[in-house]
Amino acid sequence: MRHFLTLTDLSADEFRALLTRAIELKAMRRNGESYQPLKNKVLAMIFEKSSTRTRVSFEAGMAHFGGHALFLSPRDTQLGRGEPIEDSARVLSSMSDCIMVRTFEHEKIETFAVHSSVPVINGLTDDVHPCQLLADMQTWQEYRGDIKGRTVTWIGDGNNMCHSYMHAAKMLGFKLNIACPEGYTPKKKFMQEARDYIELFSDPVGACKNSDLIVTDVWASMGQEDEQDQRSSVFAPYQVDLELMKSAHTDALFMHCLPAHRGEEVSADVIDGAQSVVWDEAENRLHAQKALLEFLLVR
Ligand code: CP
Ligand code: NVA
Repeated sequence: MRHFLTLTDLSADEFRALLTRAIELKAMRRNGESYQPLKNKVLAMIFEKSSTRTRVSFEAGMAHFGGHALFLSPRDTQLGRGEPIEDSARVLSSMSDCIMVRTFEHEKIETFAVHSSVPVINGLTDDVHPCQLLADMQTWQEYRGDIKGRTVTWIGDGNNMCHSYMHAAKMLGFKLNIACPEGYTPKKKFMQEARDYIELFSDPVGACKNSDLIVTDVWASMGQEDEQDQRSSVFAPYQVDLELMKSAHTDALFMHCLPAHRGEEVSADVIDGAQSVVWDEAENRLHAQKALLEFLLVR
């Protein structure tokens, strides 16, 4: 049994194979082909934070595959009333075939996985967002082929998305320039692991030079709503606008995991402009996670 708590739970070859499979599954769906390898299977989904894309992509993916997805929130389950994680994991895994968890502390999903008898998928924690990277890398591959040897630039907060980009850089062999304000750099542990693949910048323009892909994310992640005002002033020089995009290669792509705030981390003319591939990136959550579900559950 395999869990998917971070990208590094996969080998680099498995990561690449999932991207290829995601592209195949997308084509099958476009051709109207029915493929139902998960008939009678149940995916339980625990959301301790909000979600649009993650919830809908997993739910739709399970429906396409002939299975079923259950949405569980702490508001109306015993999870919100203090039932221990260990107990919840034991019980939920006795009734379902796979469990997706979106939560705060990464340690929580690790504890959950230890006590689960079925595969656990990370649907985002404070530390990482590995499912999003499957979709981002699929999108890159569709537009530009192999990412090995390319340069990607992360602009903004050294957050969960940035950490997963650092994992992907090391696994797929691309260079990652990271431009963050002081005090908002990625966690040391992740920087240490990816040290041969990353370069830290304080200047966004320098970080975008010779870059093939520019990526950003919200300035205040879920759980940091109280810091929104203070972060807005610190991060203001890090907005991805057309001027900043000009420092990258002319054919550079722009990605954002969404939800986005136009006028904050990205200008409207970039996210809605010709270099942006955010809608493919969002749709690919569906195809990439179907490839992941198949990998974890169909043997
Ligand atoms: N990108 C992403 O994970 O979106 P949701 O928060 O809507 O799931
Ligand atoms: N960094 C963001 C990603 C949302 C998909 C957050 O954690 O809120």
